[in-house]
Amino acid sequence: MKFFADTADTDAIRELAATGLVDGVTTNPSLIHKSGRDIMEVTKEICGIVDGPVSAEVVATEHEAMMREAEVLRKIADNIAIKVPLTVDGLKTCKALTSDGTMVNVTLCFTANQALLAAKAGASFISPFVGRHDDIGYDGMNLISDIRIIYDNYDFQTEILVASVRHPIHILEAAKMGADVSTMPPDVILKLFNHPLTEKGLAAFLADWEKTGQSIG
Ligand code: G3P
Repeated sequence: MKFFADTADTDAIRELAATGLVDGVTTNPSLIHKSGRDIMEVTKEICGIVDGPVSAEVVATEHEAMMREAEVLRKIADNIAIKVPLTVDGLKTCKALTSDGTMVNVTLCFTANQALLAAKAGASFISPFVGRHDDIGYDGMNLISDIRIIYDNYDFQTEILVASVRHPIHILEAAKMGADVSTMPPDVILKLFNHPLTEKGLAAFLADWEKTGQSIG
């Protein structure tokens, strides 16, 4: 499963990229606002940090205006994926962009039927928001399993990009269900490393090694 960092914080992206575990980045208008930076400038910097897809979201709601904004955004770098909302105009734009080879990430997906529409529109990625389902008392991961079944039934090539990830269990379940990508805040990626027995075991190894009086090299 590919890991994307869900942030526009370039320091955090740089730190994570150094682990070699980051395969792309997703941003959205809220994350750009949180960064406090110009969208063109911060997105260009992100594209220089990671080689994988970097999602940049249009903010227009009409097809023609979305196409104009997409034209501006995709000139930033070759690894730009244009993010469009799951609306009629968003999918019209998706179809137009993917037919000329531009990567498109269809976002704000909350039902498997929406995901079916996005695949039919040729989306490169579909972003089901699992955490926001959980936030209102539903099990967001059921959405991922339904989409996986539908996409496999028809051999759709659209990649399932699990979004609105809140914690490591979302990642575990996404991987067990065969999602193609999970995009997550940097702190969630870092939580995946943690286990108290790993820390305890390493401390015990090092304490015993200290007793040998040896060194390597
Ligand atoms: O990529 C979508 C993600 O940023 C949304 O996350 O936590 O606002 O639901 P959240």
